[in-house]
Amino acid sequence: MSISTALDRLADTQRLDAGIAPIRALVNRLLRPQALKDMLHGVWLGHPLHPAMAQVPIGAWLSAGLLDALPGHRKEAQLLVATGIAAAVPTALAGAADWSESDVGQQRVGAVHAVMNSAALALYVGSLVARMRGNQRTGRRLAYAGLGLASASAGIGGHLAYHQASGASHATTAARAVSQKWIDLGPLADLPDGQPVLRVSQDSDDRPTPLCVLRHGQQAQVLVDVCSHLGGPLHSGELVEVGGKECLVCPWHGSTFAVSDGSVARGPAVAPATVLHTRVSAGRLEARLPERHIN
Ligand code: FES
Repeated sequence: MSISTALDRLADTQRLDAGIAPIRALVNRLLRPQALKDMLHGVWLGHPLHPAMAQVPIGAWLSAGLLDALPGHRKEAQLLVATGIAAAVPTALAGAADWSESDVGQQRVGAVHAVMNSAALALYVGSLVARMRGNQRTGRRLAYAGLGLASASAGIGGHLAYHQASGASHATTAARAVSQKWIDLGPLADLPDGQPVLRVSQDSDDRPTPLCVLRHGQQAQVLVDVCSHLGGPLHSGELVEVGGKECLVCPWHGSTFAVSDGSVARGPAVAPATVLHTRVSAGRLEARLPERHIN
């Protein structure tokens, strides 16, 4: 069985859920207010923060491992081990924030990822204590064990990102299926005013794609009806105002997007919603995908 298949089976393992539920509730209780959670998600950065931060402990620990293999670098290796330990804490908090609002399969695989990272961290703390007490040999051994565990866990993190699409923009993926021509969305006057509705692309030679349409008088905004976080249906969301902008709240985990440009006002999403260009021709609303999404 390949590693990938084994991890897919892990993602299907319901037995893990009983342990996951209380930890997830605890994480959601501790990571408050929402501004803190948004900071940990990486809303301010426009990219998930956790994988970016993970470079620091992994890089520090790998470097310490290389120095441990050379004579005369005890102090430098000890400093790098301590640096990795210090960086692991905020990295874990960012990962916990993402994990708490992921789908079931991601939570199961993510739980194993977190347990392995915690064990690696414990080994490195033990390594640091041993080094500070002058027991360099034990310090090195514990560090190498921690490095092996952290590296395997990083591989699981890669599976979460690339196979399970954790942190990827689902809106961008969905946009690739949208017609690359102007899409006829019917008479503008037929759309309800001030209420998001679902319309499906009517361009028959392309793939039908759900679009979220919101009309205000003689103008309308059209978004790909797929939340960038995990693909929730935006047309089912509530309209709110955030910072003077009209926003749509995804019904699944509450990500909030400005209707005008798709920008993220609130996580867990970090990537924007996909907003289409619009025009009204002979009373009919038409929409077209921005250039950057055309494949
Ligand atoms: S799918 Fe999670 S917030 Fe939209």
